[in-house]
Amino acid sequence: MSDARHDSNVNLKTRTNQLQATCVLTTTIMICVLIAIIALIISAVAISKPVGSEITVQGETTITQQTPQPAIAYSPSTYDASWCQASNRRRIYTVAAGYDIGPYEYNDDSGFQVGFGHDLIDAVCQEAGIDCRIVTEPYTNCMFSEKGQPERGGIGLMEGWYDACTGWLASRQRKQVFAFSKPFLKPFEVYFYALPGLNPFNITGKKIGLISGFFTNEACLAGLDQVAGRDVPHSNVFQAETLDMLLAMILNGTVDVGLSTGPAMATKINGTNIQRFPSDPMFCKNAGQPGMMTRKDNDFNSKWNEGFEKLVSSGRFKRLCDEARIKHGHRGEIDCVDA
Ligand SMILES: *[C@@H]1O[C@H](CO)[C@@H](O)[C@H](O)[C@H]1NC(C)=O
Ligand SMILES: *[C@@H]1O[C@H](CO)[C@@H](O)[C@H](O)[C@H]1NC(C)=O
Ligand SMILES: *[C@@H]1O[C@H](CO)[C@@H](O)[C@H](O)[C@H]1NC(C)=O
Repeated sequence: MSDARHDSNVNLKTRTNQLQATCVLTTTIMICVLIAIIALIISAVAISKPVGSEITVQGETTITQQTPQPAIAYSPSTYDASWCQASNRRRIYTVAAGYDIGPYEYNDDSGFQVGFGHDLIDAVCQEAGIDCRIVTEPYTNCMFSEKGQPERGGIGLMEGWYDACTGWLASRQRKQVFAFSKPFLKPFEVYFYALPGLNPFNITGKKIGLISGFFTNEACLAGLDQVAGRDVPHSNVFQAETLDMLLAMILNGTVDVGLSTGPAMATKINGTNIQRFPSDPMFCKNAGQPGMMTRKDNDFNSKWNEGFEKLVSSGRFKRLCDEARIKHGHRGEIDCVDA
């Protein structure tokens, strides 16, 4: 499948190159014609004027003002980019996926990025008839948070380095910043992670570790009604940039307990003393379901939703989930929406 995609890219490229060549040629001819016309006008003006030192100076200024202008407005590079390419080249959508979330995104034994997220992007983009490319990126470039501050949009998505981030849960806070596609996963379960002996129903006085940009943030913590001491003072909240950093902080005692999602931690705590609490899952309030996350002015989600609906109605989505459970199941459960 990826080979076929390469071939079509090569064809597309050759065609684009030919078109570009035609465009450059046309542009060059047009520039020559324009310059000739301008030269004619200038000489006509100069001839009709009586000879005099003052007027010669005016003529000179006219020439210096007029000749550079067409050169800028119709120079082959700017003309080519805005007109020829826009009408002929197919749009490529770039989609950010992270390094390490359970069965959804991970490195296989040979170091390739794989996971359910990758399988889904391939399938949905194919159904939608759009050309998607995956970009591996740190999660904090999609969504970002600092101690004591509300979550905010990550620089990558905000600045348009790519069109979408994969598998982000639509929380109330995030909806104020970004737009979301139809969800493809059920809401993520959340748990406390700590060394043995934690009472998860009373975290009074505990130092809490959160992961920057994750929806398991201070707002989520404050909404866990079953937990006493959930209004953790800012001085007891610590931000980890990555999952691994959170694990290290729990293990070396920087924090007493970490809050994170089930799928993200499933394989991470294997082989450590860290356990998850409580035995029944908790859920964050105001947190929806995971989907694709984009800037609000981006058209990716409308194309994605079309493709996703086709995938669901054809039964391929359900098959994809079943296959993924076999392929990626060693990294944890895959909780697709019912389809
Ligand atoms: C929670 O723990 C704190 C300190 O350990 C204690 O003072 C408080 O009474 C406990 N609250 C509940 C509801 O058990
Ligand atoms: C604990 O681990 C964190 C994350 O790796 C590190 O930043 C911190 O300095 C460590 N603290 C101690 C006391 O070792
Ligand atoms: C974690 O380890 C246990 C036992 O060692 C194993 O049964 C389980 O499949 C592992 N889980 C993951 C997600 O790797």
